[in-house]
Amino acid sequence: MSKFLLSAHVLAAVLAVGPITVAASLFPRLARGPATGVAAFLHRTCRTYAAVGVAVPVLGLATGASMGVLGDAWLLVSIALTAVAAGLLALGILPAQRRTLAGRDGLAGRLAAFTGAFNLLWAVVVVLMVVRPGSTTGA
Ligand code: HEM
Repeated sequence: MSKFLLSAHVLAAVLAVGPITVAASLFPRLARGPATGVAAFLHRTCRTYAAVGVAVPVLGLATGASMGVLGDAWLLVSIALTAVAAGLLALGILPAQRRTLAGRDGLAGRLAAFTGAFNLLWAVVVVLMVVRPGSTTGA
């Protein structure tokens, strides 16, 4: 059961978080100028995959419960960082994209900073998931 849940968790992470990082990174470059139609599509991509991405922590928690590692420090830190990243997306990136599409200027710097932090957080979480510092289960 753990192996099935873990596979589903990793698949959801690759399929949902991957597209969000790419679409969010491309957005600032296309938000101004003639390509706003593409930018609107990228914004919708971020929003849609954010909804799909809810499966990542849900399946992660199920995997952790089935492995009995929910209290491990590396997992608690991962959960906290995932929550920060989700908050950044829902309360920072998506609203700033929406306002940019609505014609508001001056958000490019903030969007770039939010998106950079968001991508960095996923990189840290993935390293934590693989390295599991302090874990005595698995390799
Ligand atoms: C609430 C958030 C999360 C929880 C509770 C969680 C839980 C887990 C657990 C229990 C494992 C199994 C580790 C083991 O084999 O001992 C795992 C593996 C993994 N998780 Fe997560 N996870 C979360 C978020 C994420 C996110 C956001 C990503 C990617 C962006 C991610 C990517 C991975 C990957 C790639 C593995 C496979 C690592 C390996 O087996 O070497 N997880 N996760």
